[in-house]
Amino acid sequence: MSGGQAEHWAEELAVLGPGVSEAVAWAGLVIERAGGAWLTDADGRDYLDLMGGAGVNLIGHSHPGYLDALHRQLDAWMIGAHASTARLDALRGLAGLLPATLNRVQFYSGGAEAVEAAIRLAKSATGKFEILSFWRGFHGRTAAALAATGGARAGLGPAMTGVHTTPYAYCYRCPLKATYPACGLACVDLARETLRETSSGSLAAILVEPVQGRAGNVIPPPGYLAALRELADEHDALLIADESMTGLGRTGTILASEDVSPDIVVLGKGMGNGYPVSAIAAPAEIMETGTFGKPSASSSSYGGFPLACAAVASVAQVVRGRGLAERARTVGAEFTALLREVIPERGIVGEIRGIGLAVGIELVADEKTRAPLDKKQLHAVFTRLLENGVLVMTGGGSLRLYPPLTIDIAELTDAAHTIASILNTWTS
Ligand SMILES: Cc1ncc(COP(=O)(O)O)c(C=O)c1O
Repeated sequence: MSGGQAEHWAEELAVLGPGVSEAVAWAGLVIERAGGAWLTDADGRDYLDLMGGAGVNLIGHSHPGYLDALHRQLDAWMIGAHASTARLDALRGLAGLLPATLNRVQFYSGGAEAVEAAIRLAKSATGKFEILSFWRGFHGRTAAALAATGGARAGLGPAMTGVHTTPYAYCYRCPLKATYPACGLACVDLARETLRETSSGSLAAILVEPVQGRAGNVIPPPGYLAALRELADEHDALLIADESMTGLGRTGTILASEDVSPDIVVLGKGMGNGYPVSAIAAPAEIMETGTFGKPSASSSSYGGFPLACAAVASVAQVVRGRGLAERARTVGAEFTALLREVIPERGIVGEIRGIGLAVGIELVADEKTRAPLDKKQLHAVFTRLLENGVLVMTGGGSLRLYPPLTIDIAELTDAAHTIASILNTWTS
């Protein structure tokens, strides 16, 4: 990165509010253009973009069909939530991808807004008000979403009442010091106990990320989501899968939670591939019960606007047409296997976790105690990767890799070797 880009950042930061994404600030890049899996900075330097706008880049930067769809919609009209060809195409596209039971979709603009809507919907459909969510989870920074988010609440005062939190199945750092499968999913037993001890008997929903993104791409063991489904059923509560990060193919299936039939699904990020759009999907019976289904009760200014819908329709078409979920599964399995082959889990590398094209590499200061690598070292690793042309995301002491599902295996192979050359020789 040149002095020119640093100057550019300094000029922006003289006005821009603080608190921008840490990894974006660490990168300090001024981007001129992008294509596929690549970003080009103001000095003409290329970076393999495994950050992908924090998991947003699903079908590739500047995908030609996507750009064409947006240009055409821009030329036609863009204000109003009226019916449109774009919205019909978006709804048809999603219906072609989602399980048939999730037959109603409502559009919003961002992930947190859709999470809020999912929580409102669960309350409306059940007539109950409590939510169970998980440590280290992330659902956004609006009020209800924040209450259900792990950490990140310091200094913000009381959160929404009725939200219970319990440990996620983070086996590498199991707070119960148990080991899967011998534990028999002790964390779910603890969740059950937590509800028994603290619930007023009004559980509306369990809200869960099928894979915890911001925590470092934490992948729960087999049977975990099914056990949560059972727990929700025991309480006559709904299961909300927050698939903002995982949805539409990222983890190798259209939904990471599809095996356990969630009642409500939250979609965001990759669904618009850069255009800010999100959605919730649920069965008609759930959407039509209670206040949620009353006129104007679930709408928002921008929900279902035509540019957003043109983006969704195009993404859905590409995901389906190119079989991107399946591609993520096969290419992702190859990539994770290669990472494991060239990066031994020792030294600063604690664990490599991959599902489809969502990968986490957890970094530690001490391989025995698993003490997390300190922030300064994480920053230094990130910077070395960037200097070597690889831009990654961070979170929870891990490197997080979210390539577009269209990426070539050759690009990932090069990235794996670059990451290996840095991590394998790192001395902290
Ligand atoms: C699982 C999950 N849910 C919700 C959100 C919030 O989305 P947004 O930042 O679009 O509000 C995020 C963002 O990272 C996320 O990863």
